[in-house]
Amino acid sequence: MKKILLVFGTRPEAIKMAPLVKEFQKYPQHFQPLVCVTGQHREMLDQVLALFKIIPEYDLNIMKPGQDLYDITSRVLLGMKEVLANSTPDMVLVHGDTTTSMAASLAAFYQRIDIGHVEAGLRTNDIYSPWPEEINRQLTGRLAKFHFAPTKLSKENLQKEGVLESFISVTGNTVIDALYNIIEMMKNDDETSTEVEKLIESVGYLNIKGENRKRVLITGHRRENFGEGFLNICQAIKQLLLKYPQVDFIYPMHLNPNVRKPIKEVFKEATPKNVYFIEPLDYLPFVYLLNKSDIVLTDSGGIQEEAPGLGKPVLVMRNTTERPEALAAGTVKLVGTDIEKIIYEVSKLIENEEYYTQMSKAQNPYGDGKACQRIVSFIGKRIVGNDKN
Ligand code: UD1
Ligand code: UDP
Repeated sequence: MKKILLVFGTRPEAIKMAPLVKEFQKYPQHFQPLVCVTGQHREMLDQVLALFKIIPEYDLNIMKPGQDLYDITSRVLLGMKEVLANSTPDMVLVHGDTTTSMAASLAAFYQRIDIGHVEAGLRTNDIYSPWPEEINRQLTGRLAKFHFAPTKLSKENLQKEGVLESFISVTGNTVIDALYNIIEMMKNDDETSTEVEKLIESVGYLNIKGENRKRVLITGHRRENFGEGFLNICQAIKQLLLKYPQVDFIYPMHLNPNVRKPIKEVFKEATPKNVYFIEPLDYLPFVYLLNKSDIVLTDSGGIQEEAPGLGKPVLVMRNTTERPEALAAGTVKLVGTDIEKIIYEVSKLIENEEYYTQMSKAQNPYGDGKACQRIVSFIGKRIVGNDKN
């Protein structure tokens, strides 16, 4: 029996680690999965834990309003010291590129505990973009023993850095496992659809039943876009909603005050009826809304992976991406935070049907929904020493 400690702290990590927790739970004869949340996010993390019915064994509860990178790093590092000493895991699993993952990996390394990195090997190779995520991911990769690369390309990135092939497994991204779980929950279930629509209406988007409305779904939170970037994004939205009164613009706002301030500043006067600034949605209603949207405008990492699978064109408000697969497939395009560029690209998708159809071909370069099975099977072979998990 091996103890596996899964550590995560933010909304996207929780979405992508939840199906892995469930997969480990299927094999109680071989694994004792333990969950430690750092609480880098609070409300947005708790939404996901509730949806997937995960009750963590440990909760560092570190979030402070307006926290900076020193706060997160030091609180996770110190908090993990005690958790690792108490739980004595055989392996620590972390995810992706957050400061939770980087600091938890360092804490595990200090106690010489093996680390497995889920969603390993994505790279922009520009340490300031995304900031601080690129370096968080590289440092975590350096500390990890086992690397679960979502794609062939991410495996190659790791090999270029000297990681031996036998320590890498190409698994697909666990976000597709999570997405398929949600789609299954909603499938042919009118009761769930009605409940979800009510929930979306209750946070303020009132047109979810309007079948003939075109919808642009917007999200943003990147640190490197704070200030001017977000002001530009808001200015572009303002011009677009006046230009297209027949289109709804829906923006579930991240809880970070740096994201909300520019929205308040730019939209301080009465806003037109076709824009909806709403509270963050639970994952299930968010996927429902994503599926009912036509265009996605975002700086998110996870949404770049989910939307192509649902055939939704994604305009990414960043200058680089560590997820070039969907870019190559033609369903994702980088638009940065330039006002004119955002307006031009959204307008083109609204007005040019042929262009829209080209970009909205359903593509799924990020997996087949079996990433968690592959990760558990790999760990089973390597640390339990059996081929059946
Ligand atoms: C973090 C991650 C980022 C990830 C993103 C996903 C780092 C450095 N950043 O960025 O990689 O893409 O999460 O969303 O690891 N807040 C709340 N409640 C919540 C969540 C956030 O009030 O549930 C507010 C708090 O004021 C908090 C602030 O948002 O201090 C910022 O949270 P933080 O985790 O530092 O940054 P994110 O931008 O969320
Ligand atoms: N998401 C959600 N509710 C929302 C907005 C996003 O559940 O209101 C989900 C989305 O489907 C994706 C994840 O949150 O799986 C992305 O989170 P975020 O953009 O905050 O982080 P990133 O992926 O950029 O790290």
